[in-house]
Amino acid sequence: MGQVLQWGHRYGAVRPDHFRVAYEINPFMDLTDQPDPSRAAEQWGAMVTTLEQLGASVEVLAQRADAPDMVYAMNLGFAATVAGQPTAVMSHMRHPERRMEVRSAAPWFAGLGFARSVVGRDGVGGHLEAGDVFPFGDALVAGFGPRSDELGLKALAVELGVRVRALRIVHPGMYHLDLAFCPLDSTRAIVCPDAFDDASARAVLDLVPDPLVVTRAEALTMCANSVVVGRTVVMPACPERVRSQLEQWGFEVVVVDVSEFHKGGGSVRCLTNPLDIVVGRDLPSVPGGQVVLPG
Ligand code: ARG
Repeated sequence: MGQVLQWGHRYGAVRPDHFRVAYEINPFMDLTDQPDPSRAAEQWGAMVTTLEQLGASVEVLAQRADAPDMVYAMNLGFAATVAGQPTAVMSHMRHPERRMEVRSAAPWFAGLGFARSVVGRDGVGGHLEAGDVFPFGDALVAGFGPRSDELGLKALAVELGVRVRALRIVHPGMYHLDLAFCPLDSTRAIVCPDAFDDASARAVLDLVPDPLVVTRAEALTMCANSVVVGRTVVMPACPERVRSQLEQWGFEVVVVDVSEFHKGGGSVRCLTNPLDIVVGRDLPSVPGGQVVLPG
C-alpha cells in the first residue's frame, strides 16, 4: 500500500463571482451553453465546505470581472516551498484570453506568504499552465502540448530545482494533465493513457507502480479531475469500476456536483490550487533542474 500524500490539505480557490463562457478555448466550452450563476455559486460553496469538513483549509480569492475563467484557480500558478522558501511560479497562459488572471493572482500568492514569486513573460520563455504539473514519484509529472510547452517546463524545472518528467498530450479534450492524471498516494494514480501519444502513454504507465487506468470515456466524465485529502478522493463523478478499485485500495470516495463548471471545461481539481507542496518532501530537490522528455 502506498503512503498517503502529504500535500493536499491547503488550497486556494476563486469565488465564482463572474464565471461565464465568454470564448471557446477547449472542446467543452460552448457560447450557447452558459452556466447558471446561482447554481454555480451553490456548487462551489458545497465543494469548499466538503474540503473543509475533510480537514483541508481553503483560501479564497475574489474573481476579476474581466476574467471569466479565473474560477479555475489551479491554472493561476504552481506553488511550492523550496528550501524553506514559499515560491509561486506564475502561469504564463497559452491563450491571451486568460493572461490577465495572473495579474491578480501574483499579489494574492504573495499575501499568502509566497514571497518568492516567479513571473513568466507570456510567449517568451514558453507557456506554463499550472494544472499541467503534479508531484509524483521522483519528479513533477507534467503534460505539454495543448497548453504548457517544453520551454515553459524547462523554466519551471530550473526555477524550482526539480526534475520534470514531460508527457506529450494529444487528446484535445484532455488539454491539461489534470484531466488525465491524478496522484492518489505514493504509488497510485488515476491515469488515462489515451490522453497521450504512444511514447508518453508508455512512459506514464512506467512512472506509476499501481495505475488506476481509465478509458477515454471515463476520463471525459472528469473523474481524474479530483482532489485527494488523505485517503479521501473528492470527485465530480465516479464510474462504478473506478469506485470499486478506489474502495478496494482503502480510499473513501466523496462525489460533489460541480456540473456548472464543466461548461467551462474544468472540475474539482481545476477549481482548487494546492498550496502545501514541499520540494524535498513530496518530490526530490534536483539542483539546477532537469527535464526528462518522453522517448
Ligand atoms: N476554460 C478553462 C481553460 O480552457 C478551463 C480550465 C480547466 N482547468 C484545468 N486545470 N484543467 O483554460
